[in-house]
Amino acid sequence: MIKAVVLLSGRGSNFKALLDADLPVTFSAAISNRPDAAGLEYAHAHGIPAVALDHKKFPTREAFDEALIAEIEKAGADLVVLAGYMRILTRAFVERYAGRLINIHPSLLPSFPGLHTHESALREGVKIHGCTVHFVTAALDHGPVVIQAAVPVLPDDTPETLAARVLAQEHRIYPQAVRWFAEGKLVISDGCVNVREQGVSQWVLATP
Ligand code: GRF
Repeated sequence: MIKAVVLLSGRGSNFKALLDADLPVTFSAAISNRPDAAGLEYAHAHGIPAVALDHKKFPTREAFDEALIAEIEKAGADLVVLAGYMRILTRAFVERYAGRLINIHPSLLPSFPGLHTHESALREGVKIHGCTVHFVTAALDHGPVVIQAAVPVLPDDTPETLAARVLAQEHRIYPQAVRWFAEGKLVISDGCVNVREQGVSQWVLATP
């Protein structure tokens, strides 16, 4: 079993999906930069150490990330999983965990990095939207793509209905990505990720 630390800032539904997926992973800690993050409750419920590390108490982003690294190292981590973690990481952090730091983003990257992806998708009138699991690099919401899921954008969608359709797929692809990582099946070469297994698909097309 590999050890993974989850970083989150809010609701934690992706963390819950990972816990429910019965992965070959020991979650050694869940850490939130927001002490009131609802997602930490899932850690409590599963007997996983829950750490609240309030970023407001640190003078600089660097100081906060150093404390974050100390917590991660204390718990032990082969993999660091960003699950709705809403803080920009320092370059030092990203470099330290290069190749073992993954994120889920609610768009088909490289389209719509940053916040408010569902609003942006509706504004642009795209007909296909989705979500992406990727390895994290120093560029925000960028990095080698592990798996993507696509969903249709329907004529009467609101940001909320579209977000819900995408979120259902997030809960599907994130456990898959973490499972592949845990099984040692992910290979990054030339900035692209392949899965060392016959016949697997790194995309999902979801019908509503
Ligand atoms: C998800 O939409 C994820 O893609 C994004 O932040 C949101 C977190 O949701 N990075 P949750 O906290 O996992 O419910």
